[in-house]
Amino acid sequence: MQLSGLGYFGLRTGRIDQWRTFAEDVLGLRVTTTDDGLLLRADERAWRIALHEADTEAFGYVGWEVPGPAELASAVAELETAGVTVKHADDELLRQRDVLGLIHIEDPNGIRVEIFHGARTAVTPFVSPTGARFVTGDQGLGHVVFNVGDFEATYRFYTQLLGFRPSDFCDLGRKRIAFLHTNPRHHSLAFAGLVIDPERKPKKDIDPGELFHFMLEADDYDTVGYAYDRAQDSGTPIALTLGRHSNDRMLSFYAVTPSGFEVEYGYGAITVSDPWTATRVDGTSLWGHRRPERQGA
Ligand SMILES: [Fe+2]
Repeated sequence: MQLSGLGYFGLRTGRIDQWRTFAEDVLGLRVTTTDDGLLLRADERAWRIALHEADTEAFGYVGWEVPGPAELASAVAELETAGVTVKHADDELLRQRDVLGLIHIEDPNGIRVEIFHGARTAVTPFVSPTGARFVTGDQGLGHVVFNVGDFEATYRFYTQLLGFRPSDFCDLGRKRIAFLHTNPRHHSLAFAGLVIDPERKPKKDIDPGELFHFMLEADDYDTVGYAYDRAQDSGTPIALTLGRHSNDRMLSFYAVTPSGFEVEYGYGAITVSDPWTATRVDGTSLWGHRRPERQGA
């Protein structure tokens, strides 16, 4: 299976109004209102992130794109041969996602994984309220990072079934993070699980399938700086200060979204091409990316 990249994702939230302000004023995304929430636009696509009104803050679904109907049909055949239960979208779901074809499956953590083709390109240009432009195109929207329960099962699911390839790994204490690519973006997906002494209870409960953060890549260094200022000026909690990642070389900061998980806002990541040899880094950042309470400590 060859996925084109991250197409979209959806979240459930009880904080629609906060999200509207955060998405427009801090992230520089274009917001439209729907029957049950908001759609956020980052490029020529009609939407990239959907927010659905709910009682809780939760990850909803992630949409991985394939080039067309033939690729979707062969993805279904591969999944069914592997014994995976594949559900086909009805007309209502196709209309909601605004795509031509869609199936959905569940990953080993209960994450709803959608595979689709035929997203709609808007006829109006993307105009960011903050002047931001995002790197998408053949690299897809950006990346999503999850906490997972069973690292090995999750790794097999995404590499053997969905065709992701490893870019690198990072070991942090008892935790291992896998960074996976499916196009030139260094990673469209990453996940972290306890691999060392997994029986020992972690200090903080890990909720498998929980979204840790999503990433948007701007096409300009200053766009990140302006967003960093706007985040701080608006009182948005900064999760990690400005810094540079050791593996994809992304210059970024992390802010806490209204839902409580984080968004990485970055610029300047390297791209990868296959064949690629995955290595292992022993820290996620070259410099910066500090928890604000540790600043100056
Ligand atoms: Fe990231």
